[in-house]
Amino acid sequence: MFKLRATTPPEWATYVADHLDEFLPDHAAAERKASANAMHLVVRYPDKLDLVDAMIEVAREELEHFHQVFHLMRERNIALTRDEPDPYVNALLDHSRSSGSDRLLDRLLLGSIIEYRGCERFAMLGRELAARPGAEEAELGEFYRVLAASEAKHRGDFYELALQYIEKEKVEPRLDEFLDVEARVVEELPIRAALH
Ligand SMILES: [Fe+2]
Ligand SMILES: [Fe+2]
Repeated sequence: MFKLRATTPPEWATYVADHLDEFLPDHAAAERKASANAMHLVVRYPDKLDLVDAMIEVAREELEHFHQVFHLMRERNIALTRDEPDPYVNALLDHSRSSGSDRLLDRLLLGSIIEYRGCERFAMLGRELAARPGAEEAELGEFYRVLAASEAKHRGDFYELALQYIEKEKVEPRLDEFLDVEARVVEELPIRAALH
């Protein structure tokens, strides 16, 4: 498995834990979009049966995450918000190619990288919340720890599909390019109450 080339600053987790009510609508939107993205791949590549199978599973798990975050928000009297563009995802999509097997490769690699970053950030937030006093913080810390494990699985799902459907000689150089791009994008993100 590859590694990301930039680390989220610890201040991000502190800031988000301090502004959790503001963070949750963005988190909910990210889960909903992850589910929709997986279903988009199902519609786009109906003949790739292993991809369809894996993406239905991912879509279902992301939808479950969305539902869980929605319930958390409901308990806290926070409403869902209108869709906001995600600067991180959009910057990565700007580097994505749009035709044939290049498109598939780019979407799978970006899927894996975006899941990886989500995993890193949920794990950080989980540790930050778990370290704070209070039963609610402990529960939320556990919630984010479990989510991180699920996103780690998705990271592997997307990457394995890339290796299955695209020649290895094409996968590795493209992954190398994307990892550099992703590190630059992450380093420029402001610290705010959002996943990215
Ligand atoms: Fe998720
Ligand atoms: Fe995920």
